Amino acid sequence: MTIPAPGPRSTCLVTGASSGIGAEIARVLARRGRNVALVARREPLLRSLADELSSTHGIRADVLPADLTDPDARSGLVDELAGRGLVVDVLVNNAGLSTMGPVYRADRSAELNMIRADVEAVVDMCVLFTPGMASRRRGSVLNTASTAAFQPLPGQSGYGACKAFVLSYSLALRAELRPVGVSVTALCPGPVHTGFGEAAGITDDDAAQALPKVMWVPVSDVARAAVDGMDRGRDVVIPGLANRVGAFAARHAPRGPVLSLVARKHPGLAPPRP
Ligand SMILES: NC(=O)c1ccc[n+]([C@@H]2O[C@H](COP(=O)([O-])OP(=O)(O)OC[C@H]3O[C@@H](n4cnc5c(N)ncnc54)[C@H](OP(=O)(O)O)[C@@H]3O)[C@@H](O)[C@H]2O)c1
Repeated sequence: MTIPAPGPRSTCLVTGASSGIGAEIARVLARRGRNVALVARREPLLRSLADELSSTHGIRADVLPADLTDPDARSGLVDELAGRGLVVDVLVNNAGLSTMGPVYRADRSAELNMIRADVEAVVDMCVLFTPGMASRRRGSVLNTASTAAFQPLPGQSGYGACKAFVLSYSLALRAELRPVGVSVTALCPGPVHTGFGEAAGITDDDAAQALPKVMWVPVSDVARAAVDGMDRGRDVVIPGLANRVGAFAARHAPRGPVLSLVARKHPGLAPPRP
């Protein structure tokens, strides 16, 4: 099952398009002649990406600034797109973030904000946009999970659970939508250099020490693998051989030793610096 053929009114809605993986996915889609609708909070970044994509590739790039943790902002996207005469044939739920550190030192509002962005928004966007795809019998959904979906993640307990949710939800949704001609893919990247680490409060040095170099995949490769996987109707895309091996091991190795190892190495669980 491939991504629906582009049409003048069709667009690919990409959340988290102001930086990192989302911006690169939008670039890959635009390079392949797809219109894009870019969603995130930082409007100037979305505008400059939209200008770049429309001038370089001659596609239509719409900018829809929105805070996806706000249910009204999410439903507002449906009205805004309809008002612009656009039909969403491709939905990329990519916006997301992580908190860092043990739950006993967590900031309550930051934890709840993460759940809203990483879980609630993904569910709501699927509820809002898949009925149209099902009735037109065409559409592709890409949900960004993580290799953190394959095992619990001490040091990022809430984040790992959010991504396990996204993976499970995407696979179930895929089985529901397949009979009506809509494809669902879960993207499970390992570590990628983007704004993600900084937003989570982790330095590049800490991240590099915790995760071997071989696991890091360039953001452009992640985005290309994501769009190729969606185009081929794949259920799960894990960019990078080392991450595919790691995900397999995480699912099949004995849980106790794996979790002890992760907890020992996780920078979020290091004692606070003086
Ligand atoms: N980088 C990694 O190592 C890695 C690994 C596995 C999975 N992932 C996943 O990949 C996805 C993209 O992350 P990234 O690595 O590209 O990090 P990033 O550069 O920090 O991008 C995160 C994106 O999410 C958007 N976002 C966050 N909160 C939002 C909100 N409330 N409303 C709307 N947009 C919001 C941000 O836009 P604004 O700030 O402009 O709103 C930004 O565009 C996330 O789901 C992340 O969990 C990342």
